[in-house]
Amino acid sequence: MMRLDKFLTECGVGTRSEVKKYIKAKQIKINGTLAEKPEQKIDETSDVIEWKDKVLKYQKFHYYLFHKPAGCVTARTDNVHKTVMSYFPEEIKKDLSPVGRLDLDTEGLLLFTDDGALNHHLMSPAHHMEKTYFAVLDKQVPPEAIELFQKGIDIGDEKPTLPAKLTILEPVLCTNTNGDQGEVFSAELTIQEGRFHQVKRMFQAVGCQVTYLKRLSIGSLTLGDLAPGEFRELTEEEVLMLSKNE
Ligand code: URA
Repeated sequence: MMRLDKFLTECGVGTRSEVKKYIKAKQIKINGTLAEKPEQKIDETSDVIEWKDKVLKYQKFHYYLFHKPAGCVTARTDNVHKTVMSYFPEEIKKDLSPVGRLDLDTEGLLLFTDDGALNHHLMSPAHHMEKTYFAVLDKQVPPEAIELFQKGIDIGDEKPTLPAKLTILEPVLCTNTNGDQGEVFSAELTIQEGRFHQVKRMFQAVGCQVTYLKRLSIGSLTLGDLAPGEFRELTEEEVLMLSKNE
């Protein structure tokens, strides 16, 4: 059993004060009868709660896929930079935490959840969910890096990295804002872990500096057409995929 106003906010209907207004305005029904007060107790597992004639589905936990822009920190608060949390409205972000982190200058796919057990599972070193990154580099990656990354490379930690798949992309001829032409070197790298600055340190170990980094995917989850700064809820199948590690 839980309070009606708590149920409504957790279903994303609005903030506590907004849902109180909706109850007062007689927009909420409980089992076909108009709700009377915010503190009314409901059974979230069996009562049928309607808002504007739509039945609300209670979700214990929430899962979001976010396209992190560069220039924001993966933290709940920060004195200097914008945080990833600032992209979520108040009523959604309350108990959410990021799953792992991306560097300030890294873009791409970042998951959020208030499901502590799943967050812990995804972050555990035993959990080898594949993560694919696109990196722009200051020079062409030496071809021998493919085998070195596949075998596991020493990046200064206690243990070498787990096997990773490197695809070196064809250099592209580009013109910068000054009109100068030059080659842009890039690669895709799929890793199974999430060590601190792992991708940058792996490329450093083969003599290359990462100048741009974007996480393209986690497992079978991709950014799709989400623009930087946008988020969407995961589907039930996607959550299941994460918990089963597919
Ligand atoms: N590896 C890095 O070096 N940085 C990130 O943000 C993510 C992975």
